[in-house]
Amino acid sequence: MTKAPEPSTIDWKNLGFEYMDLPFRYLAHWKDGQWDEGELTEDSTLHISEGATALHYGQADFEGLKAYRTKNNEIQLFRPDQNAQRMQNSCKRLLMPTMPADRFIDAAMQVVKANEDFVPPYGTGGTLYLRPLMIGVGGTIGVHAAPEYIFTIFAMPVGAYYKGGVKPTNFTTSYYDRAAPHGTGQSKVGGNYGSSLLPGDEAHKAGYSDVVYLDPATHTKIEEAGSANFFGITKDDKFVTPKSDSILPSVTKRSLLFLAKNRLGLETEEGDVFIDDLDRFKEAGAMGTAAVIAPIGGIEYKDDLHVFYSETEVGPITQKLYNELTGIQFGDIEAPEGWIYKV
Ligand code: PLP
Ligand code: COI
Repeated sequence: MTKAPEPSTIDWKNLGFEYMDLPFRYLAHWKDGQWDEGELTEDSTLHISEGATALHYGQADFEGLKAYRTKNNEIQLFRPDQNAQRMQNSCKRLLMPTMPADRFIDAAMQVVKANEDFVPPYGTGGTLYLRPLMIGVGGTIGVHAAPEYIFTIFAMPVGAYYKGGVKPTNFTTSYYDRAAPHGTGQSKVGGNYGSSLLPGDEAHKAGYSDVVYLDPATHTKIEEAGSANFFGITKDDKFVTPKSDSILPSVTKRSLLFLAKNRLGLETEEGDVFIDDLDRFKEAGAMGTAAVIAPIGGIEYKDDLHVFYSETEVGPITQKLYNELTGIQFGDIEAPEGWIYKV
């Protein structure tokens, strides 16, 4: 595995969203009903049994959160407690042990500190992306929960997830679903992403950034994008985002619902977003940790491209939401209580 380049040689302003093998990651093992102490390690290869349930039966879940460098050169995490909580929910759904939130946050801090030189400089737009991961390991062949588990957090510097960054790109709908009603859509489990690979690839080949999935039961309502939740701004300035049991409860979504209401003075709504009623929106976007806020130029549905604000310019409300959110994350704007954890 190629090791990460020297930090001084990295082009921080033009980072994409690619794996990088940094010097340190955190690793803990669960066995006989408990987690071991866990430690930082330089070994980026996981050594697991061929009978690991993560490989056969998808007993694997993960998280995504970021560390931000501020103007005065401090480093901070954005709402890591929310990721810790969501990972516990995902683990319960897959019959895996949970990692206590304080240990999750402490491990994230350790990984950031140990790889501090890879946290992009303030002003470059880059961040250090943290990827917590839990997998079922040990030898198993029947369909049941694994006897042992690995929890790891690794990291890499990243830039924009969708190519346009804060410039609009187009999205498309798909024949395929990513998650079933009453399935695992609410959980951040590997299987949801496995099932999104084919539709995602078809979308990319057709020139779209990502799929906007429709509700699996009726295919009439927007659920979410493959890697982010959806929002729209109505013509009367309401921030609207879909409510569904088969979408991932996004930390960014929860944060923007709060900021739209309390900082921008917008009305907010979590409810149905019908795909044949997109005319009600003057702006739309995808929101998530990796995506940040990615404006959606248009959505393709039944051979028709519905354009929102513009295919080339970001709408004014989307831009304000972006400024408020990223201002808080990079420490330029005061955060609501409890959102920022200094490393
Ligand atoms: N939806 C999906 C399918 C995702 O993969 C993500 C990314 O984590 C999100 C939504 C956004 O969630 P969050 O804002 O917590 O990163
Ligand atoms: C994130 O935003 O953290 C994600 O997990 C999205 C994607 C990279 C899977």
